[in-house]
Amino acid sequence: MQIPLCKPSIDNKELRIISKSLKTPWLTHGPYNLKFEKLFSDKFKVPYSLSMNSCTSALECAIKCQDLKGEIIIPSFTWVSTANAILNAGCKPVFADIELNSRNIDPKSIIKNITKKTVAIIIVHFAGLPCDMENILKICKKYKLKLIEDSAETLGAQYKKRYTGSFGLGCFSFFPTKNITTTEGGMLTFQDKRLFDKAKKIIAHGIDKSLKKNFWHRESSLPGHNYRLPNHLAALGFSQLKKLNFFNNKRRAIAKIYDKELSKFNNFFILQKVPKNFTHSYQMYTIRVPKKYRSNFLDFMRKKKIEVSVHFDPPLHEQKYLRLFYKKKLPQTDILSKEIVTLPIFPDMTKKQVYYVISNIKKFISTLKL
Ligand SMILES: Cc1ncc(COP(=O)(O)O)c(C=O)c1O
Repeated sequence: MQIPLCKPSIDNKELRIISKSLKTPWLTHGPYNLKFEKLFSDKFKVPYSLSMNSCTSALECAIKCQDLKGEIIIPSFTWVSTANAILNAGCKPVFADIELNSRNIDPKSIIKNITKKTVAIIIVHFAGLPCDMENILKICKKYKLKLIEDSAETLGAQYKKRYTGSFGLGCFSFFPTKNITTTEGGMLTFQDKRLFDKAKKIIAHGIDKSLKKNFWHRESSLPGHNYRLPNHLAALGFSQLKKLNFFNNKRRAIAKIYDKELSKFNNFFILQKVPKNFTHSYQMYTIRVPKKYRSNFLDFMRKKKIEVSVHFDPPLHEQKYLRLFYKKKLPQTDILSKEIVTLPIFPDMTKKQVYYVISNIKKFISTLKL
């Protein structure tokens, strides 16, 4: 049996919608983008949503639309996009540590890293588990910092019944491994119409519709980008979003089996703890494997054709081009990045596949003389 790490679920109806929208005369940002954005806003209870070509673009746009200049605190334990967006927007990343239980940014470490130059925090809801929003919101208020949520991994997760991405500016990814996909794609959500209007300019060459003198006149008011999501991909996103609850329930059911079976080995594996009042969207199912066994574990599983992986090692402060931003020690990140392992999880994963993964994990354990 061969088991991929993740697998998008795209059905025939969606293939037909894409094919139909490719036959319309307008192929870039179009009617399906508006439908997708409206559904997104309604579903996650955010006033404004703007579709774009990736979460990385959304992150950069979130910084640029607020004209941020200075230091932005992020966890080192994340995908490089979080830092790249900051650098490409002309700001400086500052790395904070994580909490080992949640694997999310540690509010105490955020405070330690605040300086006079800090302008914002970008939190990352790791693997689908929301961050400690109560403390993070308190910090933002006390130190007057802007909040951006890298919600690439948490579509549909909630902190105390409030969706991630609705606390600050929310940045979402529809990369094929994520909870829904548009192949490549992203969404930026806002509370503030002024920022939404500015972001609309940023993602489409800076064209300012208020400067329009006649139907052919197109004038730009800032150095924008082309971050648009094409109409047919928005059509796919619109359809996928309608299935999100179904997808996430499937992911949660798989995670429940993993939790039950792997907690029998809690002297060996450490699972991600989901606090009360948090819902997890399980974009990834991760476990901690003792550092000295991780590499053998990964090789063993790969030999069994089970596509396990690692997110994230190296963490940002170990990436060559980012090392110059590494100032304060990050002991928890150092531990986690050397132990983390991602197991296969995707909505169409069958019970048989889940138990095949588990039986091989058990086989691996039995090879060890513990
Ligand atoms: C935490 C995090 N941020 C940002 C991204 C980037 O998303 P995208 O590929 O849509 O730019 C990812 C996706 O892998 C991610 O996991």
